[in-house]
Amino acid sequence: MAAQQKNVGILAMEIYFPPTCIQQETMEAHDGASKGKYTIGLGQDCMGFCTEVEDVISMSLTAVSSLLEKYAIDPKKVGRLEVGSETVIDKSKSIKTFLMQIFEKCGNTDIEGVDSTNACYGGTAALFNCVNWVESASWDGRYGLVVCTDSAVYAEGPARPTGGAAAIAMLIGPDAPIVFESKIRASHMAHVYDFYKPILDSEYPVVDGKLSQTCYLVALDSCYKILCNKYEKLEGNQFSIADAAYFVFHSPYNKLVQKSFARLVFNDFTRNASSIDESAKEKLSPFSSLSHDESYQSRDLEKVSQQVAKPFYDEKVQPTTLIPKQVGNMYTASLYAAFASLLHNKHNTLAGQRVVLFSYGSGSTATMFSLKLNEGQHPFSLSNIASVMNVKEKLKSRNELTPEKFVEIMKLMEHRYGAKDFVTSKDCSLLAPGTYYLTEVDSKYRRFYAKKGAENGLANGH
Ligand code: ACO
Repeated sequence: MAAQQKNVGILAMEIYFPPTCIQQETMEAHDGASKGKYTIGLGQDCMGFCTEVEDVISMSLTAVSSLLEKYAIDPKKVGRLEVGSETVIDKSKSIKTFLMQIFEKCGNTDIEGVDSTNACYGGTAALFNCVNWVESASWDGRYGLVVCTDSAVYAEGPARPTGGAAAIAMLIGPDAPIVFESKIRASHMAHVYDFYKPILDSEYPVVDGKLSQTCYLVALDSCYKILCNKYEKLEGNQFSIADAAYFVFHSPYNKLVQKSFARLVFNDFTRNASSIDESAKEKLSPFSSLSHDESYQSRDLEKVSQQVAKPFYDEKVQPTTLIPKQVGNMYTASLYAAFASLLHNKHNTLAGQRVVLFSYGSGSTATMFSLKLNEGQHPFSLSNIASVMNVKEKLKSRNELTPEKFVEIMKLMEHRYGAKDFVTSKDCSLLAPGTYYLTEVDSKYRRFYAKKGAENGLANGH
């Protein structure tokens, strides 16, 4: 049997989000929402979205080719490629097969893996598959590559400001700077109708917004309890929020992240964990007799636990919120964009730290898992990952569009979804050099992409 690989995890990352966005403040005014509803109520600053020349395939082509180029990875050295996405463009052909265009031209067709789909969780499933592969007897010594790609768009109404779009690529292998603590992992899976996409000719989901919030928190509680129990058995002492430097959440909108972290603090209180001091105990004790169900409905508990959690939130969560607040919900990419924000903000001080991540996909599937970080070695070092992702520059160079233009683009995209026989404007003036874009969908629904600044596009089939 092959020796098990050590320190398997994330070696390298690249993030791509569209250069087009809308300020939440202007959307608020345009939608006739009360002032502060999207910015303070949901906690969001800005929302990224694809125009008619971008989609989940073009974004993932951009993220993958940029990762390979910037870390100087030979495409032949990738042995597994997994994609997580809930944006369905084709009910059979995986996004992974579109990405094969990059590898085929280098002579590599020997790459395992396909797409994983369950709402915002598919990326986590893809990531676990790749990590498990590298740790397994089937590993052939090459890299795993995970891509999370989604365009989150909602019909007009209260969910619309919780959209977003991005693709993230992550290279997986042994001796990584971001290592999976695979034994510290807990899942909660259930059958619920909180957010789903049964309307196959529309990109928009059917959402029960309130239910989705509760399902998220129920899954969070369940995962945290199981994770604490597992940790206790393994380490012989209690787990609390004090045992991780940072907590990273799937981020549909920032307010839910604030509430989620406060929920972990409330969990620590009910388990009488040492992280809870006397003053916090005093504030939370009026809620100790609430039943589990009642605790999800209590607005007072929500308020008080957020107050108690605030200083810990500022320290352990706030550094993870930059990209989700600026780009919005990126579905499968959301959790990893939050993690990328942490690397961007704190890469100099992360070595030796534990980071706990919570992945949630409606329907529902959720896992809480732990990562241990070390500086690593160039090019697979925390500081190089932060420098390659270049988050500050990417955010700064975006173009803010008006709400009217955004609505017009959404209308066009509704029309284009599932359509054939059209060419796009091919207007890539707002795209950075090296970005892939959609040029055409032909009469047989075949999609064609080009790369800005490249002489030849990916004219597969043409
Ligand atoms: N100033 C400040 N805050 C305000 C204002 C204002 N003028 N107006 C409203 N608010 C607050 C509300 O009090 C509320 O905050 P609270 O929860 O702390 O009380 C918040 O803004 C949201 O307002 P609501 O009226 O409660 O909710 P709304 O009808 O706008 O819907 C929702 C919000 C449910 C999140 C909706 O956007 C949605 O359905 N989104 C998609 C589903 C989703 O993201 N679910 C999360 C998990 S599943 C997933 O990831 C897809």
